[in-house]
Amino acid sequence: MRVLVIGSGAREHALLLALAQDPGVTALACAPGNAGTAAVAEQRGVDARSPKAVTALARDWGADLVVVGPEIPLVAGVADAVRAAGFPVFGPGADAARIEGSKAFAKDVMAAAGVATAASVIVDNPARLDAALAEFTPPYVVKDDGLAAGKGVVVSPDLEVARAHAMHLLDDGHPVLLEAFLDGPEASLFCLVDGRTVVPLLPAQDFKRVGDDDTGPNTGGMGAYAPLPWAGDDLVDELVARVVQPVADEMAERGVPFSGLLYAGLALTSAGPAVIEFNCRFGDPETQVVLALLRTPLAGLLNAVATGTLAEQPPLEWSDGAAVTVVVAAEGYPGTPRLGDVITGAEGEGVLHAGTRRREDGAVVSAGGRVLSVVGTGADLAEAREEAYRRLGGVRLAGSHHRTDIGLKAQQGEVTIPAR
Ligand code: AMP
Ligand code: GLY
Repeated sequence: MRVLVIGSGAREHALLLALAQDPGVTALACAPGNAGTAAVAEQRGVDARSPKAVTALARDWGADLVVVGPEIPLVAGVADAVRAAGFPVFGPGADAARIEGSKAFAKDVMAAAGVATAASVIVDNPARLDAALAEFTPPYVVKDDGLAAGKGVVVSPDLEVARAHAMHLLDDGHPVLLEAFLDGPEASLFCLVDGRTVVPLLPAQDFKRVGDDDTGPNTGGMGAYAPLPWAGDDLVDELVARVVQPVADEMAERGVPFSGLLYAGLALTSAGPAVIEFNCRFGDPETQVVLALLRTPLAGLLNAVATGTLAEQPPLEWSDGAAVTVVVAAEGYPGTPRLGDVITGAEGEGVLHAGTRRREDGAVVSAGGRVLSVVGTGADLAEAREEAYRRLGGVRLAGSHHRTDIGLKAQQGEVTIPAR
């Protein structure tokens, strides 16, 4: 099977490394890719947002399966175009990708499916902002009602900070979503979905804030670990039954069946699990830890989703133990990152590339905000953390920063779901 992966982050690097281990894979290509993916797959240039360009590439390269990593191409209809040209595609069409692309659509589906989520109001007129904010209590949650790479969200106890962020979004012409604050630990549950068949992967936790102890602004994600040692054995079954299956069924009933990876971002509150967001694709950086533990060959699995035969797949197999990833970010991230700095020590095992590129002189340089995602595995969280941070210690990038506490609270037994 010749597999073409669209995207250029550490998520795609992780997908490629897992695909490369599948004996059924005969060739791998990645477009547009980065300096790390070039070591595992043929590198092709492409405008990933262009349905025409990606379809032409699938044809030109002779893909048997196209895997679309990021949300922007999916929301833009890349999967529809490639599928219409006759190629099996892992990833939803534009209609179903609205579960991520439009928070209003996601809230509507959840309401119809009876799935718990934060109460919310959409504001598109600055004159209505103060009245809408007055319906909420601190901490305030203000979101961009569109794709914002995790950075469009402000959670603040300060009304003025919340109002300023909302005004800024409205001034830029973006509708704003105000939400009730959800308390409790967060979990990311990835599910393979083809229509009504739902197969959950291991649950993971992502670290959104830039600084240790969850301080500073939100980012695309600064690290992750899997599985969740503080969760009961029945958590995943409960999340599938209460959240993911009802949403998959509701989408199928609406005539927009979901095919691909349905990502539920959840808060495990005292009132039960509640959805923070749905994403229509593998999450970054959680994919790096979930796939590090997956033993079932990945290409066969993604192909089963793409061809509508997921229900026929045997149960998934996992390695015991834990995985941790720590993101190395460029100076300035999540604001404007400094680019073009030389990176050394980024060739080692477990060092996945995100914003990197190879310069003409052969040096690997930074080319994005999140630069690397360093993965460690071990018998438990402590060992996996130890390996991830040891590997990270071999990397050099001037001005870079990373969190030092990924998975630490879980390791110390300090994460608990509030009592019901
Ligand atoms: P999102 O882009 O919607 O995933 O939001 C990014 C991050 O903001 C989440 O991972 C949470 O940490 C936080 N967040 C978003 N919505 C809420 C909410 N309603 N209550 C508490 N935290 C939230
Ligand atoms: N880990 C957050 C995301 O992929 O959106």
